[in-house]
Amino acid sequence: MNEQLTTDNADRHFDVVVVGAGVIGLATAFELRRRGAEVAVVEAAPMAGTGATRVAAGMLAPVGELDFGEPALLEINLLSASLYPDFVAAVEEITGHDTGYRRLGGLHVALDRDEASELKRVLELQLSLGLDSKWLGPAASRELEPGLHPGLNGSVLVEGDGVIDPRALSAALVDALDQLDVPIAFSTEVTSLLLDDGAGQSDPVVSGVRLSDGRTISAPTVVAAGGAESGRSEWLPEADRPPVRPVKGQIAELRGDPSDPVCSRILASERVYLAPRNDGRLIVGATVEEMGYDTAVTAGGIHELLREAYRLLPDIAEMEFIEATAGLRPGTPDNLPVVGPASTPGLILATGHYRNGILLAPVTAVAIADLVESGAGPGDSATGPMSAAAPIRFRSDGDSSPPERESTTGDRVEAG
Ligand code: GLY
Repeated sequence: MNEQLTTDNADRHFDVVVVGAGVIGLATAFELRRRGAEVAVVEAAPMAGTGATRVAAGMLAPVGELDFGEPALLEINLLSASLYPDFVAAVEEITGHDTGYRRLGGLHVALDRDEASELKRVLELQLSLGLDSKWLGPAASRELEPGLHPGLNGSVLVEGDGVIDPRALSAALVDALDQLDVPIAFSTEVTSLLLDDGAGQSDPVVSGVRLSDGRTISAPTVVAAGGAESGRSEWLPEADRPPVRPVKGQIAELRGDPSDPVCSRILASERVYLAPRNDGRLIVGATVEEMGYDTAVTAGGIHELLREAYRLLPDIAEMEFIEATAGLRPGTPDNLPVVGPASTPGLILATGHYRNGILLAPVTAVAIADLVESGAGPGDSATGPMSAAAPIRFRSDGDSSPPERESTTGDRVEAG
């Protein structure tokens, strides 16, 4: 059990409060703590990883979902994939948990000629970027994955693709934080951001958060890692609320014989992907729906997934149907995450990871820890490829000055 935030330690001074215990928030807290920071985590749900993390297939396919016109995202994806082995090793070493991390490769399949010409265009793009992908004809594709539909046109093999079990990763991170004495307050909402107005001498700066039970946690840095909720989190000052929208995804989970798996790599067609787990489960994902905050599992959504999965790999028909779930990805206008300082000094955003939240956990955690260590403030951004994720890109005037404070009635003012 993680140490609880009690009345005593809730009033303790922390270096950083992370709001949100999805994989992004947990990985960020883990990285900060490993670097010596005193960290607390606050989560509205009764347990960790109940948002997009719970529904994610855990595909670590940096080039798999590559689209034209997204070179900045590709760079971030590749960087994060390169950080994965060390990240997983650190979590597994501390906890002894198996997170299901495997570099098993991916096969991106074209089922007909139209899909093949599109896939070949993507392959050319991948090769022009120096990526190690290759085209396989139908026979070579089926030699690697005999269960593939015999009528397939061809495939692109990406050896570096991997998978992880996001639920196992989330559980391992909670355990790791426990062992590192990081308290997590579950079933607790942040109701407002505490700001110190410096007796009116300077712009207000973050001094902590107020919780739904009335307690406060003091900290000079607050990391907002609320996933799809970030765009409507009222505790965030309006000027710093990122343009994050929920993008619904439904998945189906099937189970087969682990000693005779239906496939041994990630398989993806234009409309569906299949991510195998060590224990014989197969995740079939995912719909992409603009439905607001609706998380209903629909007959039509699951029908479409299973139909497309069957077109790709007919053997799925023999598998046991375990469950169907839906979750909300945090989408952004340019599909890049929102990671970096907000305009309120001390507030850092770590959200908007859209289809790549699991893949981008390590690079986000490192970027946030670097920002905290360097004392970065409004107007600064993460270094390297992650600079493209700076929240400032969404401020119309590119203005890094903090928002108007909402109250000036005392030393301490609250936003949200
Ligand atoms: N990256 C998989 C998905 O968003 O469905």
